[in-house]
Amino acid sequence: MSLPSTVPLSGLPDRVTIYEVGPRDGLQNEKAVVPVETKAEFIRRLVAAGLGTVETTSFVPPKWIPQLADSTELVGLLGEDALGPRRPVLVPNEKGLDRALELGLTSVAVFGSATETFARKNLNRTVAESLEMFAPVVSRAKEAGAWVRGYVSMCFGDPWEGEVPVAQVVDVCGRLMDLGCDQLSLGDTIGVGTPGHVLSLLDSLDGKGIGMERVAVHFHDTYGQALSNTMTALARGVTVVDASTGGLGGCPYAKSATGNLATEDLVWALNGLGIETGVDLDQLVSTSVWMAQQLGRPSPSRVVKALAGAATTAGGQG
Ligand code: HMG
Ligand code: MG
Repeated sequence: MSLPSTVPLSGLPDRVTIYEVGPRDGLQNEKAVVPVETKAEFIRRLVAAGLGTVETTSFVPPKWIPQLADSTELVGLLGEDALGPRRPVLVPNEKGLDRALELGLTSVAVFGSATETFARKNLNRTVAESLEMFAPVVSRAKEAGAWVRGYVSMCFGDPWEGEVPVAQVVDVCGRLMDLGCDQLSLGDTIGVGTPGHVLSLLDSLDGKGIGMERVAVHFHDTYGQALSNTMTALARGVTVVDASTGGLGGCPYAKSATGNLATEDLVWALNGLGIETGVDLDQLVSTSVWMAQQLGRPSPSRVVKALAGAATTAGGQG
């Protein structure tokens, strides 16, 4: 059997938008730099598998993330397909925005932190200084007609500071959204969140006027909680979920961060619930198997392992 039975559950959305972060969050954390042609091919395969929104790369100083130093070249290789509103790139500052706008990109993301320690490590700034850095990025991007996402990292815990109070997270989220971002993505950078915590944060955001139609969730799967946290968020009204094909991912500046929720694990669960995503699971699994060959190690995704293993077994018997 290669597909789950479809049995809907009430209280969940009919459709979910998957915001694919594999080419950015996934490849930024690889030890080796993946050749730019392979990155372009990865993105083309993801789009062909039905992923409408694909975050392609970052415009940050090469010394900060050498793995994505080829962003200009990658956009050139992708051509028109890199320019649409559903091909966001990370830009931390005005220099990053200038580089993105010069190339004709129309969708960007700034990325803040709920904690001071991670703001310092990831952005070389305090939380307040990083918000000051983002303010002209968001306003100039909006003036240029671009779509803007605002990430907040360490929403559920921080490896240096430990517990992060919900009120502190909501405060940073509110300040970031006040700059004019179109969408907020809640990052569980080190994967420590659990469903009650997710619900508590979403309720608090809603209480402060940040409705679920503007919120996306971004769970890393370090402790195996990403899918149950995602289901909790869907039941609370969230309809945009970040995921990474093959379960790649992590942040080089966040101690103990591992891969994101695997897109295949998410699609399997949503298929079983009869929730539309537009994604062809078999094609996606083939893409992960291909990418794992490029990276020289197997995908950590359970669904990739099960489906790729089943295909091999069936092939062997046939
Ligand atoms: P800084 O070193 O303080 O920057 O870094 P600066 O303004 O002092 O500039 C230093 C040099 O970099 C200068 O060049 C600038 O021109 C240049 P020099 O004069 O030395 O020759 N520069 C740039 N070059 C190219 N593109 C740029 C750029 N900006 C400056 N955009 C900075 C501050 C914010 C730039 C740095 O800390 C940074 O880029 N950090 C980003 C690190 C990163 O990408 N982390 C991973 C992404 S976040 C993540 O993964 C979490 C997420 O997935 C959600 C979650 O899971 O929680 C989103
Ligand atoms: Mg991340």
